[in-house]
Amino acid sequence: MKSKASSPAKVILFGEHFVVYGVKAILCAINKRITVTAEIIKENKISIKSNIGNLELEPNKEISEINSPLKPFYYLANKLLEDQNIGIKIDVKSDIPLGVGLGSSSACCVAGAAAISRLFNKTSKKEILELAIEAERTIFENTSGADCTVCTYGGIMEYDKRNGFSKIESEPNFHLVIANSNMEHSTKSVVKDVKQFKEKDENIFSTLCNKESKLVEDVLELLKDNNIVELGNKITENQEYLETIGISNEKLRKMIQIGQNKSFGAKITGAGGGGCIFALTDESNLRQTMNQFKDENYDCFSVKIDFKGLDTF
Ligand code: PMV
Repeated sequence: MKSKASSPAKVILFGEHFVVYGVKAILCAINKRITVTAEIIKENKISIKSNIGNLELEPNKEISEINSPLKPFYYLANKLLEDQNIGIKIDVKSDIPLGVGLGSSSACCVAGAAAISRLFNKTSKKEILELAIEAERTIFENTSGADCTVCTYGGIMEYDKRNGFSKIESEPNFHLVIANSNMEHSTKSVVKDVKQFKEKDENIFSTLCNKESKLVEDVLELLKDNNIVELGNKITENQEYLETIGISNEKLRKMIQIGQNKSFGAKITGAGGGGCIFALTDESNLRQTMNQFKDENYDCFSVKIDFKGLDTF
């Protein structure tokens, strides 16, 4: 018996870092996907094959002893096997760049939870999301769950620490041009640097949080009206706040400048210090924006919002 599921990647459109201190953020799913195929096998083992390597182990190993980025899959398979004397074979295919803030690990957890749990019974999206967040905690203990949520339900959503997630019902038709700095970053260490920035000047940081909150409220209105020009201006404004808290660098600044030349606005997405930036475009300036990056040999691609979220076959 085989089961297949696919989940989209994500970007943070507004509010990264400030979200850690209670400000609302806006995220969306994008049309880059990971597909997981799971299959019951006779041997009592868990076998995972992916484009970043393989992992094959017998069930019931301590999760903390597994040193592999594939361990969320092992966790899910082991949990759902429930000591039955069979095994699970998992095959992962991904077109999401790894470790650059596009939610590749959350997408793995969501598609993995869906494909594996459906081998045993029909599981609801809500249950799949809970399983996915549990699996994600094996690699990032303090996850807010926002990434897994947007990968499961697709579309755009707002999130804040106190009230959780809420889907935004508008379906804007923009294209995002994503450019990858190919600089590795550690979310944990950039978050720590921002904490130091905050502790050095609580007043400046609190003013920035207030500005970001206001900006996000304005964006929610602009999304309803599909006002792409003003949305672009808000992206540029958000980038200024990210510059102030020190998560940018020379390479990212150069990329943002290139992005801003022809698009409506560009900013870092995610933790910063490396990773990706995006530029907001529509049909009128998509190609020109892509060409600007290509002319300077940057690794870039365009995406649209994915409204489907998790898909099962
Ligand atoms: O780059 P990512 O996708 O790991 O985004 C991190 C987002 C932060 O706001 C910096 C941290 C967080 O937990 O929200």
